[in-house]
Amino acid sequence: MTSPIATAPAVHVAGVTREFATKTATVHALAGVDLDVAAGEFISLIGPSGCGKSTLMRLIADLDQPTAGTIEVFGKPAARARLDQDYGIAFQQAGLLPWRTVEANMALPLELHGIAPAKRKARVAELAAMVGLSDFTEHYPDQLSGGMQQRVAIARALAEDAKLLLMDEPFGALDEMTRERMQTELARIAADTGAAVVFVTHSIPEAVFLSERVVVMSARPGRIAEIVDVPLGASRTESLREAPEFFERVTAVREALHGAPTERANER
Ligand SMILES: Nc1ncnc2c1ncn2[C@@H]1O[C@H](COP(=O)(O)OP(=O)(O)OP(=O)(O)O)[C@@H](O)[C@H]1O
Ligand SMILES: [Mg+2]
Repeated sequence: MTSPIATAPAVHVAGVTREFATKTATVHALAGVDLDVAAGEFISLIGPSGCGKSTLMRLIADLDQPTAGTIEVFGKPAARARLDQDYGIAFQQAGLLPWRTVEANMALPLELHGIAPAKRKARVAELAAMVGLSDFTEHYPDQLSGGMQQRVAIARALAEDAKLLLMDEPFGALDEMTRERMQTELARIAADTGAAVVFVTHSIPEAVFLSERVVVMSARPGRIAEIVDVPLGASRTESLREAPEFFERVTAVREALHGAPTERANER
């Protein structure tokens, strides 16, 4: 007998609207958003600033409630999934605890789940190596650069091999080389652990490199404008960045973002 949880999508968003009442007006941040993310699927959200990407992420993480519509995570209400800590989160701000060292920040979710100290230490060493911070585990967040802080937050999100990762511009503060390395690493981790990932980015190549589907959003009110499939297979390795089919998908997402280009074929 299979439980409904085993077959449920990682994320189910149905008819979700979020309006914010401000002093002068009502901001329609999201309107009628429907989206299913399958277990193990990697999707990216891309769209202009203010189109509601972070709002949608916060709703999925149960940090905010929709004005209308429903959100489920692995078949459970979002609030239940938050209490069960069914996902790892890395958001736009690193959100580290300033009084804890790098090591203690990375270990936080493991502590909360009662993992024994020796096992915790081993896991944190692995994570620190993965994000290139092995020499900084005793440092405090204010002794690190913005990009290093973000890498601590990413390590913390990955600490538990969660079946769902919610990542809102996690690589925004990284230099280009580190960013590409972290992308490759994240693609590998997602494939190895079978985690579903909902990933927000402003970078079209980043979205295409990582995702099986790119969800293109439009602003005011935030809606899903188009979903671009990226059938480039499971192996997202460095060579993919130079492949013609990669550029073809980058172009497809760019056109979806900017609207269709003028028909040059007719000019010949
Ligand atoms: N707590 C709030 N109160 C009022 N308005 C809000 C609130 N949170 C978000 N908004 C508004 O909702 C809209 C969507 O914001 P959101 O942060 O989701 O955008 P975003 O797509 O993540 O943008 P960016 O790419 O700049 O991060 C914006 O117009 C924003 O001003
Ligand atoms: Mg945002």
